Amino acid sequence: MNMSTPTDILNRLFQDIKPQDKLYPKPESQIQDIDSEEILNSNIFNVMLNRRSQRKFENKEVENWKLDIIFAAADTAPTAGGFQGFEIYHIKNDDIKIKLVIAANKQPYVNSPVVLVFCMNPSRVKLQFPSKILEKFSIQDATLAAAYAQLAAHSLGLSSIWIGMIDEREVMKAIGTDLIPSSILCIGYPKKILQPKSKRTLSELIHIIE
Ligand SMILES: Cc1cc2nc3c(=O)[nH]c(=O)nc-3n(C[C@H](O)[C@H](O)[C@H](O)COP(=O)(O)O)c2cc1C
Repeated sequence: MNMSTPTDILNRLFQDIKPQDKLYPKPESQIQDIDSEEILNSNIFNVMLNRRSQRKFENKEVENWKLDIIFAAADTAPTAGGFQGFEIYHIKNDDIKIKLVIAANKQPYVNSPVVLVFCMNPSRVKLQFPSKILEKFSIQDATLAAAYAQLAAHSLGLSSIWIGMIDEREVMKAIGTDLIPSSILCIGYPKKILQPKSKRTLSELIHIIE
């Protein structure tokens, strides 16, 4: 295998670009300059390679048009049989956000500008398989949708944190659903742009079976 880590791909793709110019979104000083055309055209590999978990958000509202794109992106994800076995709850209520902080092992950053709860909805998956398989499909549907939403958020100059450490029953009670949550995605404007994280080499990750 030629490449050693994911960031090597970025270096090869953008050979002539200075390292600081590869960061997306730009550090704070340049954030105001990002225009909507630039963010919509952001290269998907750059988005993937630069996305970082963010736990400190600016106290700034996320524009509705950005939210619409994030929801649309989530809805482009593949789903088992195309049945879209998941639902997204957009939590706008401040009291419910606080309940979600508690349901998420008291992680304070769950109280963020945009809080999305991705839930499994196996009843939508109209396939003739055992219920265990349908549940597995719906958790994969909900997870993929959240991952697509997370990438879309990054490409729009936003940052996010994926919350998997949740008490499912507490989340269900807080948002008033009988659907099991798979994750909470918290989104907002980042306080600080973080550098891409180093990863194991791809040769450690990929197990070739010949
Ligand atoms: C399944 C899953 C569960 C996670 N749960 C939490 C969580 O409960 N709290 C948290 O702060 N981060 C959580 N994260 C974020 C990871 O800690 C983060 O993605 C990881 O440290 C890698 O950092 P990066 O996203 O900046 O590359 C979770 C991520 C995943 C994929």
